Amino acid sequence: MKKLISSLAVCISLSATALTPAYLDDSLPIEDRVEDALSRMTLREKINIIHAQSKFSAPGVPRLGIPEIWCTDGPMGVRPEVLWDEWDQAKWTNDSCTAFPSLTALAATWNPDMAELYGKSIGAEARFRNKSVILGPGINIYRTPLNGRNFEYMGEDPYLISQMVVPYVHGVQSNGVAACVKHFALNNNEVNRHTSNPIVDDRTLYEIYLPGFRAAAQEGEAWSFMGGYNLFRGEHASYNPILMNQILKGEWDWDGAVISDWGAVHDTKTAVSGGLDMEFGSWTNGLTNGQSNAYDNYFLADPYYNGIVDGTYSTDELDDKVRRVLRLTFRTAMDRNRPFGAMGSDEHVAACREVGEEGVVLLQNRGDILPIDLSKVNKIAVIGENAIKMMTVGGGSSSLKARYEVTPLDGLRNRVGDKAEIIYARGYVGDPTGEYNGVVTGQNLDDPRSPEELRDEAIKIARDADVVLFFGGLNKSNHQDCEDTDRESMALPYGQDELIEALAAANPNLCVINISGTGVAMPWTDKVPAIMQAWYLGNETGNALASLLTGDVNPSGKLPYTYYASLDQVGAHKLGEYPGHPGVDELGNEVFDMPYNEGIFVGYRFTDKNKLKPTFPFGHGLSYTTFDYGKASINKTEGTADDTFTVTVPVTNSGNREGKEIVQLYISDLKSSVDRPVKELKGFKKVSLAPGETTDVTFEIKRDALSFFDADRHEWICEPGSFEALVGSSSADIRSKVRFNIKNSK
Ligand code: GLC
Repeated sequence: MKKLISSLAVCISLSATALTPAYLDDSLPIEDRVEDALSRMTLREKINIIHAQSKFSAPGVPRLGIPEIWCTDGPMGVRPEVLWDEWDQAKWTNDSCTAFPSLTALAATWNPDMAELYGKSIGAEARFRNKSVILGPGINIYRTPLNGRNFEYMGEDPYLISQMVVPYVHGVQSNGVAACVKHFALNNNEVNRHTSNPIVDDRTLYEIYLPGFRAAAQEGEAWSFMGGYNLFRGEHASYNPILMNQILKGEWDWDGAVISDWGAVHDTKTAVSGGLDMEFGSWTNGLTNGQSNAYDNYFLADPYYNGIVDGTYSTDELDDKVRRVLRLTFRTAMDRNRPFGAMGSDEHVAACREVGEEGVVLLQNRGDILPIDLSKVNKIAVIGENAIKMMTVGGGSSSLKARYEVTPLDGLRNRVGDKAEIIYARGYVGDPTGEYNGVVTGQNLDDPRSPEELRDEAIKIARDADVVLFFGGLNKSNHQDCEDTDRESMALPYGQDELIEALAAANPNLCVINISGTGVAMPWTDKVPAIMQAWYLGNETGNALASLLTGDVNPSGKLPYTYYASLDQVGAHKLGEYPGHPGVDELGNEVFDMPYNEGIFVGYRFTDKNKLKPTFPFGHGLSYTTFDYGKASINKTEGTADDTFTVTVPVTNSGNREGKEIVQLYISDLKSSVDRPVKELKGFKKVSLAPGETTDVTFEIKRDALSFFDADRHEWICEPGSFEALVGSSSADIRSKVRFNIKNSK
């Protein structure tokens, strides 16, 4: 009897297995499941799966039980639900998120562990909200301080970006949610963002603008990319055959899905052949409403379907698109083993605060007026609109409905308690609004007083305080740190410069905490003893800043971009072009041709070459302790390009409190057949040291750290000759260097 039952059980399970279609069988490799699903789909189903059905979703294949793909912004937190076909929020009551620090703050930690923690946390929130794709991270290069979206990106250096984007992507995707790395590529400004046509030579493209994306694709194994709005060599980035077919899917052998930016698709033919896999947001021009529910009219919808039926298009491109969308689906919504995520957990709050505390950069601290010693001060004057203004709302698609936001003033009050008196004055009125897509901060920042009245009040409270903290900078309104607009100058807005000078005259114990996502002009650095670059830090802004200002936490961030004194120090402006000049494309449409005349000389590469002294250099950041560097040594002074050179430098915490130091390695090619930067970042390590502790920091130098991209040969070349490894605390604070020679490899 037993035998009969067990054989019956085997038959049933065999027949069940036989009945389970391969695409639903988790035990099979994804590629087998993709092919099986593809073979079962009708032409209409194939067309449906590659374009949106709503603002942020694509339909999947209901008949086969293949789920929809839901996308959500953004790089710093999970966007509130919007209405099916509107940008406005849907007014759900369960979609408030953890607002994490801006990606510039993350980059400023120079800590890949923080990037992994960040990605894991934000991915868990997207997972909990049942999203398959989170539309981030953004990693476009900081080519100009005027770019309205610099706050969403990771700075000016391709190596730093590469090291930070990979763990971020791994963290996100560990939740079974796809990262969507954006905006591929050359979306380096917001002005004319739909019609900018960057004109970039191949060496600049491969050495500066591609490496972050390449790392995200190859080491990060990102499951999706988002194409940019701009053009490149005559075609829109979102379906650009060079970017998408030749480079991303060809040279980098990437198997993910390319998603258009919202409103970035403009015709069917090139969208079919240009490597685009999913069309979203058409006719919305990114941010304005188009026809409602016009999804069947999308360029990859009926027009494409009809083109296949009438023979205009083969099904080859369609099947490749469908495979990539199915692969994305199997990696996310159809992965039965993916975690369940969480929203607003203590871990996420802790991650938000930790990234914020590690990312803030202490730029200047003359006379060590920071940290504030609460046992010695009785009165703290807090001045500035950015001490009270919530910043998680606004700025474009990265805007959030945060569970809460601790402002700098609240954070200080939480921390200081009754240990000192805190007096606040607004100082200036900048942007009293606080609304985006129907999400409101709930703050009423209206203030009828005149600038003179506001300034007089601020100066008065500053005069008799023991220490003055000025919270200023930018905000998320147009022409500040905001999508779809660029800044109109580097100057701080709202008369802040004059106010800062007046405060410095009223009280020498002044610290300026600049809250912004991009560099600003600081003409008053000689009058202000302490300056802190504080980014948009999300929920825990005030608590993180209070910890740093009172010394509970020792600042350890470093600048991920050059803090220029003026646009004269910026290649994009000195040599042009920015914002480009009017032109027309082959269809007669207006475009803005924008030659990147500075070529590879972006950021410190430009200021080094031209011996310019920025306000603060790339990689700069102070601590409340000090670090001494010993002499760098190298394992050998000669070898071939295939050898590994090992540089070691002892670093000591020579101060009286623990601290973290970001030790940076730059490489100089002392003799080259092409014009190369004075030096380039090719390594960094963040080390934590107790007072008096010394550690040996070691870097391995291989061929890729020595090579330049030869556009004619279309390959990376390491030329024989002399090189120098420079080790330092910033790009302008080199502590030790060591030479080595690459000989001809036979
Ligand atoms: C926007 C942005 C993009 C965002 C998308 C969806 O225009 O450029 O970063 O993810 O549309 O909101």
